[in-house]
Amino acid sequence: MVEDLRLDSLEGVGPVTTRKLSDAGVHNVMDLIVRGPVEIAEITGMEKDTAEKIVNKARQYLVETGLLSRDFVKATEVYKRRQDIGKITTGTNCLDTLFDGGVETQALTEVYGEFGSGKTQFAHTLSVMVQKPKTEGGLDGGVLYIDTENTFRPERIVSIAQAHEMDPEKVLDRIIVARAYNSAHQTLILEEAGPVIEENNIKLIVVDSAVGLFRAEYLGRGTLSNRQQKLNHFVHMLSRIAETYNCAAIATNQVMASPDVFFGDPTRPIGGNVVAHTSTYRIYFKKSGKKRIARMVDSPHHPEEEVIFALGEAGVMDLEDAEKKTTKKTTKKVTKKEKESEPETAVESAELETVQAIEDADSDDLESIEE
Ligand SMILES: Nc1ncnc2c1ncn2[C@@H]1O[C@H](COP(=O)(O)OP(=O)(O)OP(=O)(O)O)[C@@H](O)[C@H]1O
Ligand SMILES: [Mg+2]
Repeated sequence: MVEDLRLDSLEGVGPVTTRKLSDAGVHNVMDLIVRGPVEIAEITGMEKDTAEKIVNKARQYLVETGLLSRDFVKATEVYKRRQDIGKITTGTNCLDTLFDGGVETQALTEVYGEFGSGKTQFAHTLSVMVQKPKTEGGLDGGVLYIDTENTFRPERIVSIAQAHEMDPEKVLDRIIVARAYNSAHQTLILEEAGPVIEENNIKLIVVDSAVGLFRAEYLGRGTLSNRQQKLNHFVHMLSRIAETYNCAAIATNQVMASPDVFFGDPTRPIGGNVVAHTSTYRIYFKKSGKKRIARMVDSPHHPEEEVIFALGEAGVMDLEDAEKKTTKKTTKKVTKKEKESEPETAVESAELETVQAIEDADSDDLESIEE
């Protein structure tokens, strides 16, 4: 496939242009689409017209080869392309329900929540689950993990893989980690990701955190629009990559839990509207004591709902499984009679607690600040 997408397979793109492009980090036809004409002109020093022509040719080429949909398409075709969407199981029933089966490819999913809410654990879990065969809810794919906060932990991958009865060494081998040191570096990594994605059959790209470095570097009001512009560029590129390469993209984003800080809405993501408008799915994680609440926010076709999950050795977990691990009591045999007379089985009581935890959630926010 890499061969087919060589830059010189485009009519009129000779060795000189190819070199100019690859010097600027554009290595194949997909990259041309991902970067777009304005950026191609900027990074190669080409005339804007020329860049536009090349990008249009790239688009045409990909349409002809069936890798990209045409500009004007019938809904049936859109529907067909959407049939190619893969889903990655989260390894839990509750989050799979929330995601209507799993985390989708061709889409950017933003996970936002306060510190310790489980964003990184979720990203680790998906990095393992995506490698499962399709029959078991995975995509048999690799992972590109862009780590901006130095929180990627191979040990966690090992224990999550073991909990799911997978070979930890094989799993580690299929995760490509890129540590980003500043926002420009983070952007560069993504710009250069094309060939890595192709060669390793990457089906999941994690950016943890997508916003942190931008926030740290652009402090103060004066630089806000500059920051949003750069972040906008990054997030759009991520979303285009997900669409073009048919992979899932996860961007994490920390939020302040304090109700009185900043703009009034305590659940507002730090990245502000840029991230929100670009991401296809947004999921909000919240701490509630030891449990975690996940809420699907603004999805084009998922109902807005909440579920309760837990964090543990297996990464993100169903509450019942996490409880089974901690209290042996729930595994004790219950006779049929006891079951009938006593409605509080582990599952049922977990459901009751769910309601309670959602009700308690707001007051928990205050607690978590003090933690
Ligand atoms: N091995 C483990 N077993 C059980 N729970 C764990 C384990 N490792 C981490 N956790 C839980 O995960 C929490 C940290 O979650 P995580 O690092 O995903 O948060 P985060 O949302 O990424 O936070 P931040 O915004 O600071 O990056 C810990 O508080 C702990 O409850
Ligand atoms: Mg984290």
